[in-house]
Amino acid sequence: MEAALSVIAPPNAAAGQPAAGQPASGQPADGHLVQSGMPAPRPAAARAGFLPLPLDQVLVKALAGIPVHLGTACDADRFPLYCSAAARFTEFHRRRLKDAGVRFIYIPMNYQGRFQEQVEKELIAIAADPAVAISTKSTLVYETSIELIDQVLSEQGVARCLPRLDRVARAVSTLVVNDGRAFPHLFATAQHDFYTATHMVNVGTWMTALAFAMGVTDEAELNALCTAGMLHDVGKVYVPEHVLNKAGALSEADWLLLRAHPVRGAEHLRSQGVVSDIILRVTLEHHERMDGTGYPRGLRGDQLHPLSKICAVVDSFDAMTACRPFKNRVKTIAEAVTILQAEAPHKYDPAVVAAWVDLLKGAAAAGKINEPVVAPPPPPGAAPAPVGRRAHERYGINCPAVLHPLLRRGDAWEEGPAVTAKAHNISRGGVGLLAQTAVKPGQFVRLLLRGKGTLDNRTLEGMAVRCRPFQDGWHDLGIKFCAPAAEEQAAVAALAAG
Ligand SMILES: [Fe+2]
Repeated sequence: MEAALSVIAPPNAAAGQPAAGQPASGQPADGHLVQSGMPAPRPAAARAGFLPLPLDQVLVKALAGIPVHLGTACDADRFPLYCSAAARFTEFHRRRLKDAGVRFIYIPMNYQGRFQEQVEKELIAIAADPAVAISTKSTLVYETSIELIDQVLSEQGVARCLPRLDRVARAVSTLVVNDGRAFPHLFATAQHDFYTATHMVNVGTWMTALAFAMGVTDEAELNALCTAGMLHDVGKVYVPEHVLNKAGALSEADWLLLRAHPVRGAEHLRSQGVVSDIILRVTLEHHERMDGTGYPRGLRGDQLHPLSKICAVVDSFDAMTACRPFKNRVKTIAEAVTILQAEAPHKYDPAVVAAWVDLLKGAAAAGKINEPVVAPPPPPGAAPAPVGRRAHERYGINCPAVLHPLLRRGDAWEEGPAVTAKAHNISRGGVGLLAQTAVKPGQFVRLLLRGKGTLDNRTLEGMAVRCRPFQDGWHDLGIKFCAPAAEEQAAVAALAAG
């Protein structure tokens, strides 16, 4: 269906007068003014110097003082004026065009900066407006953030964009604080293409939702951490494109360049006038890991800023699930979640991973993630796929537990003093947990899991196979499942056999 001229005549031509700035020839005689039924904007628009805007989502207030053009069905290269800069485009005109089947409007490219600035100025009010649909707000906030970070990484630089970054970050945190549905919508809106700007905006918006879910409610802190997430990889401007987009394995020289980006990024931000401790720490520490195996400084968990630990989780998740150049998507969501859970607490803070998985599950329940968030357990009798060098696949859990050392008393085993513990992963072969007391490897233990569902009051027995200091007085234990009596008999038999 094509819209007729009479239906979508220019707004200020209602009295039979041409719109201000209207070409002398007026509208095409056949009245075919449009894009009705068009699934995408005109490819010729950029060539002709126009920026397409989706009619449904365009922020009408941001069109003030900007001429609005339409496409034509009869000539792909023509974009006649619909509303001049002097005549205000309103919601009435949006509805009128929508009823006529128009999907896109066009503004001249030289008005793009003004349009962007006007969108950013309205963004906080829009994010707080209960009358605007959450899907519209999320898309607008996300897309505006992408535009801005693109400019930060290109000609504009950080210093000139700081006031705009602050406005956009405030819009993101306003959205997250005011509407519990924000994260599912922001996640669904997000692109997963691993371009640096996309990645930085994903991390910034997701970090804000995750920190808020974990109890960060201070407005200034939320704004700072959102900005931190959106700037955390700014040091990649110093890494050559061919390294960032390399299809094969990185050489040692490539790695050196890549691993320098946190330090280069923090130096760059300081030189651009950024003084926020949160922004600088997150930029510097987002590749550090809990056990000190990260870079650039090999800091341990207790030396890291709490928000750096949040950034590390969403940064790694996005890196695993995004499509990279020349590659398909590296991991499914469930695979990435399994890896994060398996690598906590050594690499990631288990509480952050658990909160992130809860957010993802919430987005799935809201219908905004249409794939499994958690890998299903293997069917009974099936050989589980090994993870790395492990014989049994591990599943991340976050389960309070009580551990008792088992002490030999004659022919019986007695429980020693209870030790408070938190189990963080489990497999058919054993369990990983944090305990408040060290347990010597070789010690038999009984473990009571106090989780939900199948983990409720489960009593398990096994032997400590690993114990190392973690942080804040906790110890990281690995327990292999076994029956103490049978294990002891096997050990005696092995000794007897010489
Ligand atoms: Fe990074």
